[in-house]
Order: sequence, then structure tokens, then C-alpha cells
Amino acid sequence: MNLLLKGGRVIDPSQNLDETGDLLIEKGKIVKKGTDLMPTFTAKDLEVINLAGRVVVPGLIDIHTHLREPGFEYKETIATGSEAALAGGFTTLACMPNTNPVNDNRSVTEFIRGQAAACGLVHIYPIAAITLKSAGDALTEFWDLKEAGAVGLSDDGKPVMNAALMRRALEYAASLDLPVIAHCEDRNLSAGGVMHEGFVSTEVGLAGIPSLAEDVMVSRDLLLAEYTGAPLHIAHVSTAGAVRLIREAKARGVPVTAETAPHYFTLTDEAVRSYDTNAKVYPPLRSAVDAAAIRNGLKDGTLDAIACDHAPHGRTDKEVEFDYAASGLSGLETSLALSLALVHEGFLTLPELIDKMTLQPARILRLPQGTLTAGADADITVIDLDRTWEVDRTLFRSRGRNTPFHGQTLRGKAVLTIVGGAIRYRDF
Ligand code: DOR
Ligand code: ZN
Repeated sequence: MNLLLKGGRVIDPSQNLDETGDLLIEKGKIVKKGTDLMPTFTAKDLEVINLAGRVVVPGLIDIHTHLREPGFEYKETIATGSEAALAGGFTTLACMPNTNPVNDNRSVTEFIRGQAAACGLVHIYPIAAITLKSAGDALTEFWDLKEAGAVGLSDDGKPVMNAALMRRALEYAASLDLPVIAHCEDRNLSAGGVMHEGFVSTEVGLAGIPSLAEDVMVSRDLLLAEYTGAPLHIAHVSTAGAVRLIREAKARGVPVTAETAPHYFTLTDEAVRSYDTNAKVYPPLRSAVDAAAIRNGLKDGTLDAIACDHAPHGRTDKEVEFDYAASGLSGLETSLALSLALVHEGFLTLPELIDKMTLQPARILRLPQGTLTAGADADITVIDLDRTWEVDRTLFRSRGRNTPFHGQTLRGKAVLTIVGGAIRYRDF
């Protein structure tokens, strides 16, 4: 099938492109962009879609997704996570290794790639563990994992507490051109905590995780990256302190990139007042000052990318006392709309936002996706900026219905998701 996408506002940060026009797709590839394009095909072979008033961007890329397979299929599978991705406008995912077994050896990496290929809905790139079982004691076989298809290394969910081991990981990974993705949390400082430490935690009587737990570890990892010269990517930045430290490190030339997630600039620890376990996430939702710093970090480029940190859980994980509840929220289906709020408020331009959800994630993990240049695979997301819709978790494609946004009305939505020239999701 060939496609002619007509009359949309085409934004492609990889080409500094923002103009209204047509996009011609033949045999799964982008052929060209232009105005009033006429295909070389007969009408029978071609679907023409009028996109006037809509926005056409490279397929969104999420570099921080938990797909839960193998081992926790009741929370999510590669197939259900892929469906959620498509509904959220994502055509490429990188998945974290905290499965069961942990993705710490090539057989697990190969299994994930095999399942992804069998499902074949979106591009899925595995991220492998830095340490065996992500236990923080011994490094995994980086070369072997890279050969098997891992695109990065992370013990996400847990920090590498041993600084000497983290140093070796950075050095070894740099020699293989594999990015290390740090989950920055000093476990001694965060011990026992279940929400952000501050005024609200005192009032509601829940044990706090101080911002310091994140800041101390960000600071250590920046020093390690500076010392070794090895590229470092910092996951799910949530504090004003971390933004400041990363900004200063970038100014010094430290090879660091960083991401945040929509909940860190949308919500604060106030969301935990009701003891809603759907608002329990690590790192925790912080103060309004932190959320404002995260926004500023996105605006000035300190924070390169927006990632979902899609962390689906089952009812039995969440419908328990706050202290015992699993942490994380199901993010793939709300990420775009929550992020578009920054554009609707006039805080980011639309091309700035799309850059953080396409080109920058691709750059961080050195992926070939994230562009609409001629010859590229036709991975495309079409956005209706003004469509308002109510978040209804019972309608999620994801098995994870754990969202603190249930019932909220959001503005902006992916209405067409195309992978390799095939329409995989359509909502108009
Ligand atoms: O809230 C979280 N959930 N934070 C993490 O770092 C891991 C994740 C998960 O796997 O559920
Ligand atoms: Zn995570």
C-alpha cells in the first residue's frame, strides 16, 4: 500500500522543517515532501488521506518503557505494550531490563527481539542490564549484549551504588559505543521512603524520599562521566537540583544527556494526598518548585528528551496500602497529550516538543528512526492538536490501568500512527 498524506503541517526537527504540504509514501518508505504531489500510482494502489489542520511528525520514540515480558505478562506483554504505544503515537520503544529473568544476558535480549519481531507492530529495542540481575555486584557481558541487539545499558529501577563498578561500566560501555542510562538514587538516602520528602509527606504521614537522594547520585555520575569521558544518559530527572547539576555539567562539556517524564512537569506531591497509589512512582512526584525547574530544563535544553517511563502494573500491585504498592504509572497513552500542554501554554514551541519526542531520543540511543527524510522508513505520527478527550483507563490498550490521570480531560491526541508505511492506528 502506498500513501499520500495531504495538506498537513509537517514538522521534522531532523531537517528543521515546519511547513504545510504533502508527504508521499511508497513501499513503506518516505519518497518525498512537497505541495500538490501527484503519485505515480493508480488510485487502486494508493490511499490519499486529507490531513488539513493536523500535524504530521516522525513517529514518536519512547526510550524508557517497561514491557514486562518475560516474567510479568499479567502487567504487560510486548504485544499489549506495542498496542498502547500505537494508540499513544509511538512507533519506536526501547524497553528496560527489569523483567524476570532480568535482561542481563543474550538469551533474554534475543527472546525480547524475537517476541517483538513476531508481534511486529512497532520497533522495539532492548536495553540490557549493567550488572547481573541488576544487583549491583558484577558487570554483565556488554559486548555479547550489544551483539545480541541491546542498544543501551541500565539497571533502571535500581542505582549502581558502587562508584568503582559504575566507573568500569562507563569505561567499558564507551569503548563499545553503548550509552549507559543511570537511575540516579542514593539508596541510603531514599531508604524506607515512599513519596517525596517535604511538607505533604509530613502532613499525610508517609515516609519521604529526599530530593537529595537523586541529587547526590546525579552529582556522582556526572563526575564519573567527566572523569572517564564516557557518555552518560540520566533517566527520569525529577528534581530542581538535578536540573541545575546537569546544566552546569553540560556547560563544562561533560558528555551527558538527560530525560524527564510528563508526570514530573504535570503533577506534584499534592497528588499523593489522597493516598492514590497510582501517583506512587520512583523517583517520586516532587514539589511545585521542582516541576517548574523541570519545565525550565526542557526549555533551555538541559533536559534533552521526554520519555514515558511507562511502568504498567496489575490491580493486585496497586490496590494495597500505599507503603506496599508497586511504583510506576502507565504512560504510553497519555504522554503526548500531557506534553502538548507545554505547547498549549506557550511554554514550548511545537517543533521544540516534537524534537524531544523524536530526534533527541533517537540520538541518545543512536537509533535510525526519528526522521522524515526521503528514503527513511515511513514511521509517522499524525496529531490533532485540539482534539479533547477524556482519559478512561478502562479503554487503555495497555494492561496497566495504573494512571493518576483517569477521568481528566486532555487536549491533543495521536490520530494516525503509521509504521513502515502501514497504518497501525487510526482515530478519525
Ligand atoms: O516507578 C518506577 N517504576 N520507577 C522505576 O524506576 C521502575 C519502575 C517499574 O519498573 O515499575
Ligand atoms: Zn523506569
